[in-house]
Amino acid sequence: MASVSEIAPDLYRISVYAAGANLQFNHFLVKDDEPLLFHTGLRGMFPEVREAVATLIEPSRLRSISFSHFESDECGALNEWLAVAPHAEVVCSDLGAMVSVNDFIGRPARGLEDGAAFSTGKYRFRFCRTPHLPQGWDAGALFEETRQTLLCSDLFHQTGDVEPLTESDVVGRSHQAMREYQAGILAEYVPYTPLTSQNLRKLAELKPRTLAIMHGSSFKGDGVRALQDLDAAFRDVFGRAGST
Ligand SMILES: [Fe+2]
Ligand SMILES: [Fe+2]
Repeated sequence: MASVSEIAPDLYRISVYAAGANLQFNHFLVKDDEPLLFHTGLRGMFPEVREAVATLIEPSRLRSISFSHFESDECGALNEWLAVAPHAEVVCSDLGAMVSVNDFIGRPARGLEDGAAFSTGKYRFRFCRTPHLPQGWDAGALFEETRQTLLCSDLFHQTGDVEPLTESDVVGRSHQAMREYQAGILAEYVPYTPLTSQNLRKLAELKPRTLAIMHGSSFKGDGVRALQDLDAAFRDVFGRAGST
């Protein structure tokens, strides 16, 4: 069974630990008038994640299903979720809708342009387009403006079965994890491009106070500083000539 923790008011982290990969897969449910799920999870994890969501809301009540970029752990179970929540809208970048998602789900997704906002009731979300960060042309992040929470997908990736929320350094852990990945098949996790620092600065301008992180502990504290430090860590790990 997935473990469920409320990491900010009405924001639930549903965590599945994959021991083989020594990695958590975290899905976030916003409990509001129109509930939102951020990250569907892998298709293979769907029964477990659905069971955990059902402890919080009736899954058919989901109204929005969103994610950062088109990759299996972020959105592989989209069609399974749409089968149990037929009134839910799939919310992603306008580019993602056009190039992958509309075809994948067989109906139009709600494609958001950079800066577009929508409400789930008490909470208001803004879409921030971040091409190729963490990866994928279509990538973006969702920022919840009321509580200043950034749903930041693969950014700040950490390994291990770690605590749901921490106020201590997550960048050091993430830096270490990315350094270790460079030695194996998961090398070059984040494409380091001329857009990388620009995208991170754009996210820092939102002044997040909580970072809802897909792999590893979420973070509460100075989100601006964490994003600046992550930029330095990326430069260190990915901003050099490749080894291949
Ligand atoms: Fe990803
Ligand atoms: Fe991921």
